[in-house]
Amino acid sequence: MGELLIKPKKRKMKGIVLAGGTATRLFPMTATTSKQLLPVYDRQMIFYPLNTLIKAGIKDILMIVAPEHSGQFLNLLGSLLKKHGIHITFEVQSNPRGLAEALTLGENHIGDDNVALILGDNIFENDFAKQIKEFRSGGHVFAKKVVDPERFGVVKFNKANRAIEIVEKPTKWISDYAVTGLYLFDNNCVSIAKKIKPSERGEIEITDVNRAYLKKRQLEVTLFEGEWLDAGTPDSLLEASMIVKEKGISKNFHPILDQAIREFNEELKISSKKRLS
Ligand code: G1P
Repeated sequence: MGELLIKPKKRKMKGIVLAGGTATRLFPMTATTSKQLLPVYDRQMIFYPLNTLIKAGIKDILMIVAPEHSGQFLNLLGSLLKKHGIHITFEVQSNPRGLAEALTLGENHIGDDNVALILGDNIFENDFAKQIKEFRSGGHVFAKKVVDPERFGVVKFNKANRAIEIVEKPTKWISDYAVTGLYLFDNNCVSIAKKIKPSERGEIEITDVNRAYLKKRQLEVTLFEGEWLDAGTPDSLLEASMIVKEKGISKNFHPILDQAIREFNEELKISSKKRLS
């Protein structure tokens, strides 16, 4: 009798955009709105990470937002992509306790699937669609050479270019490669995140999730050279706008997202005309 082969279930890739937080370095601008809703050139910042997920074909996206900004996110994104087959749902994060909390807050959304977690203020020129589509198991992060590694999670390689250590905001130099804010994890990430204890800065660190995968030799690191922008200060926000304009990053969105934004604009025009007449 032939052996009964049980094929492992192919897991889908869910998306999470972490867009909570208070962004005190951008006060007073972020006293009235979320950092991720501030403009970067001609679009709200949130559209850039959203575009990274949409370009990779992700259709179920959870937005994690602060309670005081949830209404604004809902207005902008609540129905935007529904008719294009992309479902955006929302989870309110009342008391941000660190990036890895996105994985526990997103537990039901992740379900039995894998997840691409992206920080709502990270703008990438590269689209990483290939890596996201091909992801199957373990963890996969994207690192870039920077001049100020002490500001980030940093990954160190051995001579064979294998990642051997990851440290959050190292006080002593270990490497120039910052781990950027796009993380691909298999389904184990939820149980890993649940076990993490707060760091010295009191946060459930995403770096500790990466370290858990690294320890199991299941962390892949892709180095890249395209632009990577975060817009955490007035200067870097301005610079991000200029680079996005110069490199045409917002002109290179996925056609579905582009169309949805155009339709949203049209609806806005119609409703503002109605209000004026
Ligand atoms: C966070 C992560 C850090 C990562 C960075 C990318 O830093 O903790 O590992 O390199 O995002 O933007 P934070 O924004 O909390 O300083």
